[in-house]
Amino acid sequence: MPFPADRPRRLRQSPAMRRLVAETHVQPSQLILPMFIAEGITEPRPITSMPGVVQHTRDTARKAYAEAAALGLGGVMLFGVPEHKDAQGSGALDPEGILNVALADARAEVGDDLLVMSDLCLDEFTDHGHCGVLDAQGRVDNDATLEIYAQMGVVQAESGAHVVGPSGMMDGQVGVVRSALDAAGHDDTVILAYAVKYSSAFYGPFREAVGSSLQGDRKTYQQDPANSREAIREVLLDIDEGADIVMVKPALSYLDVIADVRAAVDVPVAAYNISGEMAMVEAAAANGWLDRERTIDEIILSIRRAGAEIVLTYWAAELAARLSR
Ligand code: PBG
Repeated sequence: MPFPADRPRRLRQSPAMRRLVAETHVQPSQLILPMFIAEGITEPRPITSMPGVVQHTRDTARKAYAEAAALGLGGVMLFGVPEHKDAQGSGALDPEGILNVALADARAEVGDDLLVMSDLCLDEFTDHGHCGVLDAQGRVDNDATLEIYAQMGVVQAESGAHVVGPSGMMDGQVGVVRSALDAAGHDDTVILAYAVKYSSAFYGPFREAVGSSLQGDRKTYQQDPANSREAIREVLLDIDEGADIVMVKPALSYLDVIADVRAAVDVPVAAYNISGEMAMVEAAAANGWLDRERTIDEIILSIRRAGAEIVLTYWAAELAARLSR
């Protein structure tokens, strides 16, 4: 027998051959575009640390919802940037608050052609920047926060969200949101649970995006990057409480966790390619150190390959446009 007998390179010899045997594909319908909508601005405001991403006005956001629908994206995930923040994050519960009016705008613009999703968390709305309200000692109060999350879920569904995404890592958050939605007649509203969320340095640019100056850190509620078995515990709890889709976040330093979660459960798995992950690529590409498009394609493919069917990425619209070329 001639040596070598096995020649894996045969299947890599041309673009057509590589296409035929590709195991993983990225479709626009699997991509979700996170968007920031700010209150009280008249022009979109660039977010310096996230090149290409802006804080939208309600009007520019409307155009972006329509574009996302036309591109065939899976959805948009909305974040509100309120003009005034307070200790309770009261803007989150106000039906006239920025996130809730933006959800209504989005729904009016796209109907059921595009899934409208909302981040369900208090950090964009609190003046201390934590994901929940604080107790007398200044600690994040889990159970007091749950009461607010439950009401937020209902307000967001009533404003037009098809999908709500509890992201504050409070224990029991999925269960209370599910019960509140059901009690208010919103049994169709889907819960995309940020089930696995690590306390990560990669959220840095997001702070600028939502104008948050966090006091302290989130280590008492977000997960320790040292742990992966704990991720499965979080996922199983969330599914038990009623999560329809579970998410892992961030994505790139946690591809092993995405793969573990995918193997452990049968619900759809999402992953969030977050602000700091995109900022690194944009900064390197701006210096000519990386081929921007190839890097983006490889990153999103790797998240899909790890096992996430759904990917939240700030590059969703750009990628979808490129995929349909
Ligand atoms: C919580 C939330 C955060 C992000 C999404 N939802 C911030 C945090 O948990 O600290 C980060 C997204 C990103 O960095 O791109 N509201």
